Amino acid sequence: MISNIPPHIVQRLRLVKDKYGTPFVVRLYQGEERDYPFLEEMYRGFEPKEWSQGLPPRLDDKRDEWLRYVANEGINLIAIMEEKVVGHAALFEMEHGKSCEYLIFVHQDYQDRGIGTALTQLMRELAHEMGWSQIWLTVETRNFKAIHVYEKVGFCFVGPRDIECVMMLTLKGNGKGI
Ligand SMILES: CC(C)(COP(=O)(O)OP(=O)(O)OC[C@H]1O[C@@H](n2cnc3c(N)ncnc32)[C@H](O)[C@@H]1OP(=O)(O)O)[C@@H](O)C(=O)NCCC(=O)NCCS
Repeated sequence: MISNIPPHIVQRLRLVKDKYGTPFVVRLYQGEERDYPFLEEMYRGFEPKEWSQGLPPRLDDKRDEWLRYVANEGINLIAIMEEKVVGHAALFEMEHGKSCEYLIFVHQDYQDRGIGTALTQLMRELAHEMGWSQIWLTVETRNFKAIHVYEKVGFCFVGPRDIECVMMLTLKGNGKGI
């Protein structure tokens, strides 16, 4: 998927400080050889497994299958702190380039420090620059933390709220060519 992304976007990285002043980097996932082992390590240590819509899978082989699919088919951002991957977000193209679907995980030891917000803000910018007009996601209604982050970055609820709900972010204009 990274081969479809303009080079100026691939090179982008953002240096951010968390709520305690500790620096972290957010950048695009650079492929299997360079980043996959570190991404896999984050999900191996992620708990509780299967907490969000059955993800990340508990069984090693299922988790590896899911993560390889995500890493190969999506646009992936990783957050790196203390030389570890501590957060990951991915976008999947829908409707032939018009809209995309979002997922995000931050390792439990690094939550509530601003990493999820930074990943979501940068992904919003990337989606705009890729020319997509909407980002969609499904979230469990009890997932107050995730919903708080999504609302902060501009997502709104769409349709009824049951066990799960749908949120959408409209990207103004067309960012292509920026
Ligand atoms: C959801 C998730 C990605 C957020 O990442 P994060 O790095 O913890 O997010 P941030 O630190 O940037 O922001 C968390 C915000 O939620 C707030 N928050 C924490 N607990 C909360 C709660 N129970 N209810 C509402 N808000 C809450 C924090 O105060 C913070 O808001 P603020 O910056 O305005 O003070 C992360 O918690 C995670 O990976 N959760 C498990 C997987 C998941 O649910 N993924 C989403 C699937 S749809």
